[in-house]
Amino acid sequence: MAKMWAGRTAGQTDKIADDFNSSIPFDCRMYKQDIKGSMAHAAMLGAKGIIAQEDADKIIDALQTILDDLQSGALEFDMSCEDIHMFVEQVLTERIGDTGKKLHTARSRNDQVALDLRMYLREEVSDIIALVRELIAALTDKAEENKATIMPGYTHLQRAQPISFGHHLMAYAMMLLRDADRLGDAMKRMNVSPIGCCALAGTTYDTDRYMEAAALGFDEIALNSLDGVSDRDYCVELLSAFSVLMMHLSRMSEEIILWSSWEFKFIELSDNYTTGSSIMPQKKNPDMAELIRGKTGRVYGDLMAILTTLKGLPLAYNKDMQEDKEGIFDAVDTVKMCLKVASPMIAQMKVLPENMKRAAQEGFINATDLADYLVKKGMPFRTAYKISGRLVADCIAKKTTLEALPFEEYKKYSELFDEDLYADIDICACAEKRISVGGTSVKSVENQIQFVRNKLK
Ligand code: ARG
Repeated sequence: MAKMWAGRTAGQTDKIADDFNSSIPFDCRMYKQDIKGSMAHAAMLGAKGIIAQEDADKIIDALQTILDDLQSGALEFDMSCEDIHMFVEQVLTERIGDTGKKLHTARSRNDQVALDLRMYLREEVSDIIALVRELIAALTDKAEENKATIMPGYTHLQRAQPISFGHHLMAYAMMLLRDADRLGDAMKRMNVSPIGCCALAGTTYDTDRYMEAAALGFDEIALNSLDGVSDRDYCVELLSAFSVLMMHLSRMSEEIILWSSWEFKFIELSDNYTTGSSIMPQKKNPDMAELIRGKTGRVYGDLMAILTTLKGLPLAYNKDMQEDKEGIFDAVDTVKMCLKVASPMIAQMKVLPENMKRAAQEGFINATDLADYLVKKGMPFRTAYKISGRLVADCIAKKTTLEALPFEEYKKYSELFDEDLYADIDICACAEKRISVGGTSVKSVENQIQFVRNKLK
């Protein structure tokens, strides 16, 4: 069949060129946005007298039937069309004849595709923000249950100081709160209407771009037509925000993987979110967490791909820009899937407080508190630090812990030691004493939970 744009050329291209050129296999997912956009465009053309009102009404009614038929499955996408925009216009013309051919007045696929993509992503991003908030809620609930569950806090993956598991989980809640914010911020700049920019230079018709934008729920319109059709910043921003979000999910997954290993055994994942091995009967593998960590790479890839595609493009529209969609759709799908798995995986994981406590008692993670004890008694911190370090070395040699070392031994190191030192180096007390704002004490974790829950309201 000759192309809709046949004219200058015969509109016949080789099959392989058609397949190469075609975007309908992936842009068909924007059919709803494309049709809604066309309805608003027809309404504006009618209201401004650019086409007759009765033609506008006829177009709008027919577009509604196309939408209904696509949704019910009565109408299928014709994969021989170049893209979703051509498909909708083709069906419209089949259904209402020449009137359908009036729809594309004062419009181009260049502003149309920019409109569709912004509308599509706008919806997806609000779904994703809701999913991020669900995950924050799951983390916060688990944190509440574990605000007094003591575990070793790590630096360099070496046991460092005691913290609560709740405090650890709230760190992720804070990260995800920023992610939700970043997505909301990206959405503001996404919600700018390009429709009416036309091919590149605007139009000679007396259109009303504000009317179309308002009908489609946009806050603003693009004020330079070249920019309006060639701007894909909103895709780059969104993919950046997704990348940061995935980086957080990946770090969290990494810890879940570590924690559920035999080496740590701090948590046990629910059977619902683990798999077995085909050969090793004892295995319980954290595949879901590993996949989240793994899929982070492809979302970064989607960001790099679009940045690279855009970097050399002259103004305004270039066909290269058709490459924006598959990457961002892939990222949207990936982020959604990861969030949908992460929330119940966190909610259903079993915490093993005894094992966390044991690990906390084994690593001399109260050595800082021992130094702080001497500081309280008047010793300069650096001197106290040295003594505490020598006591740790002594305990390692004697295969004992700071808590179990007899008082006479302490006395050999400093006259400042008193029997009350044991209360100060008790692992739970060490965490509980960290009352500074943002610290690991139960009260502080409760404050964090409160703060986050207020944000979720
Ligand atoms: N399928 C195209 C895309 O996704 C739509 C815009 C095409 N515009 C054009 N002048 N060929 O970018």
